[in-house]
Amino acid sequence: MIYPIVKYGDPVLETPAETITEFDGELKKLAEDMFESMYAAHGVGLAAPQIGISKRIAVIDVTFKEDPGAKLVLVNPEIMKKQGKQSGSEGCLSLPDFRETVSRANVVTVRAQGLTGEWFETTGEGLLARALLHETEHLQGRLYISHISALKRDIMKRKIKKLMRAGEWK
Ligand code: NI
Repeated sequence: MIYPIVKYGDPVLETPAETITEFDGELKKLAEDMFESMYAAHGVGLAAPQIGISKRIAVIDVTFKEDPGAKLVLVNPEIMKKQGKQSGSEGCLSLPDFRETVSRANVVTVRAQGLTGEWFETTGEGLLARALLHETEHLQGRLYISHISALKRDIMKRKIKKLMRAGEWK
């Protein structure tokens, strides 16, 4: 099932999501639906609050279907280690058509649970490191625009308000 993507302005995006304790068929279905919704929206990462579900699960595929082995499901993820620095363009499916330069760590290690509840650690570099940070922050109710200057953020918010008034942001 493809869920519509929740856009900036919806409080669910800025609310810390709930820890997942049930590792059942329903969670597996949610992860499948999240991949489907992410691909349909042409994204490489999606967190459950972005489909209106305030639970600590995110999916990532920085290869966008090219490598099935690159598909990553993160349940209750925590950032364990950050190293180095990268600066690059970043966007978010909940803020369509906006992109900003964001500085991030270049190598990131995350500890998370899989769909059966087993804990694992994964380390990513470059785009994957960026996605691990971006999606984990979503589950904390934090958006990437918290990493840009207040001035740039205000300009973006003003543009979004304009789109909302025109009925072009829902
Ligand atoms: Ni996002």
